[in-house]
Amino acid sequence: MPRILLTGGAGYIGSHTYVALMAAGYEVTILDNFENADRGVIDRLARLSGTEVDVVEGSVLNRTLLDRLFAEKSFDGAVHFAAKKAVGESVARPLDYFEANIGGLVTLAQAMRDAGVFRIVFSSTATVYGEPEVFPLTEDLPLSYTSPYAFTKLTCEQILAQAARADPWVVGVLRYFNPVGAHPSGLIGEDPRGIPDNLMPFIAKVAMGEMETLRVFGNDYDTPDGTALRDYIHVMDLARAHVQSLDALMEGRAHTLNIGTGSPVSVLEMHAAYQDAVGRTLPYEIAPRRVGDVPKLYADPARAREVLGFSAEHGLEEMCTSSWTWVQAQARGWGFNS
Ligand code: WQD
Repeated sequence: MPRILLTGGAGYIGSHTYVALMAAGYEVTILDNFENADRGVIDRLARLSGTEVDVVEGSVLNRTLLDRLFAEKSFDGAVHFAAKKAVGESVARPLDYFEANIGGLVTLAQAMRDAGVFRIVFSSTATVYGEPEVFPLTEDLPLSYTSPYAFTKLTCEQILAQAARADPWVVGVLRYFNPVGAHPSGLIGEDPRGIPDNLMPFIAKVAMGEMETLRVFGNDYDTPDGTALRDYIHVMDLARAHVQSLDALMEGRAHTLNIGTGSPVSVLEMHAAYQDAVGRTLPYEIAPRRVGDVPKLYADPARAREVLGFSAEHGLEEMCTSSWTWVQAQARGWGFNS
């Protein structure tokens, strides 16, 4: 079966995609600098996949390392996750985001080109739609950026489009909506360093008693319950979308796709669903709107269904129960040297 380089494969979405690719019969090498991932995940990936993990510690900015990797292994393609992804941090440190996200992609793509490897799945984001007014979001909407992070993702999409005019690239761009949840085993999940940015890790910390209360950023939006709407997608569905994207690239079928459920969920609905999963009241308070937030963001998932045959299968309850299983298992430890 084809061999794939999985950059950022020790991270949240990368680790779930690793498990899905191995289960699909791909051979996978993980490249990760562990800047935003715990090394213990590798043992747990070995447990989940039933075999040793081929992992290389290093950065996609290290061209010498990449050249050695592509010389040693005959890769058929790459899935590129390795990037910085915190919107707020990107506002404070834009140059670090340009270096890591744009510099990282260009360095990887140059190494791939020089090794004659032209299939790449690129991890993009729905925030390339800026502040949309038409819903649900389709892939042909105008693109813009509201943060340096979104700028790097939009720029990388366009870099790959330009590169494909010069060389025979076959590119899969996946625009994620809001990834949440965890593998049902509780062995892998979202493991943000420090104070989380995202909603579900925050609710999880309240459920674990690590934070007092959830702050709901605004309840005066033009939405059914006043809180913002997002298209939350289970990370297991998102991982499967990457396998189907890669399968399409192996057949020479390039694509740019929204990966979402098409079903918007509000902050208060997510809070209530998590509360049901935990089985007790989770305190929250209404706080001011967060700067930069958009009121709504949800996908029209039709093109992913047409092009890949992909549809999300896991619902809100599984998103919350799998997250709750994960954070409890993480707190207990996994009972082996991880
Ligand atoms: C979701 C909703 C918040 C925390 C970002 C990036 C996106 C992707 C996912 C990288 C919003 C509300 C949150 C809290 C809250 N990241 N919220 N209290 O902002 O939609 O998307 O993360 O790929 O690119 O833009 O996700 O989880 O931060 O927020 O009320 O403590 O939850 O206001 O409405 P977001 P989020």
